[in-house]
Amino acid sequence: MILIKLGGSIITNKQRPMTANVPAVRLIATHLRRVREPYMIIHGGGSFGHYWSVKYDMHTKPDRYSIKGVSVVKNSMVELNKLVLEAFLQSDLRPYCLPPTDFIFGDKPMIKKIREIPKIARTGLVPVSYGDVMWFGKNKFYILSGDKIMGMLTKILKPRLAIFVTNVDGVYSDIKTGKLIREITTEKPTITDVNMDVTGGMNRKIKEAMAMSKSGTDVFFVNGKIPQRIVSAIKGKEFEGTLFRG
Ligand code: IPE
Repeated sequence: MILIKLGGSIITNKQRPMTANVPAVRLIATHLRRVREPYMIIHGGGSFGHYWSVKYDMHTKPDRYSIKGVSVVKNSMVELNKLVLEAFLQSDLRPYCLPPTDFIFGDKPMIKKIREIPKIARTGLVPVSYGDVMWFGKNKFYILSGDKIMGMLTKILKPRLAIFVTNVDGVYSDIKTGKLIREITTEKPTITDVNMDVTGGMNRKIKEAMAMSKSGTDVFFVNGKIPQRIVSAIKGKEFEGTLFRG
């Protein structure tokens, strides 16, 4: 089993609210057709969910956020998810929508349901989930990032590989000099982060990746603008990006 996170930076245009980068999704999907192993997709929020979460001041901490905000963020994610599903289907994949509410209750993973996901993937369907605004209980909601979903699923499913697809080549030791880190084992790299978003940008992703690789999964950060790199990594040919060895 392989988990693939499509970051908001690659599937949306982060500069323009509510604009998906459908050609990028299609290009990735076209390459994924060559993958023979069962895999699951989780996508982020980009200029859909993130944009509205910032507007309505909603965060990952469960709280009593604006009810209108909850509604707007949720709708925007359903809309983006629909675009991803359609692009996949048109690229001849067989997406199967699995909103996080199907396998997460409050903030707890529903383990029995999660264990069924690889079986769905083995039929040839591609389960597709996404970061979302979740009901927490006690009148509270919270923003659940796709990265968190990746971490949660990794703990339970122990996939052999987890891939974070973004719009950059991987993790840089310094964004200004453009020095890419090819492999990270245990030492914490010093990373400069220019991105600001509600779920914490690159730094949070790296923290998540470290935890995932510690539990034994190889974690790979790759540039989605060059999707053949995703397929090469899956086929074990070459890791052109940053690999956190499990
Ligand atoms: C964000 O998910 C979901 C919402 C804001 C509703 P992510 O945090 O995984 O999104 P990206 O990939 O960073 O855009």
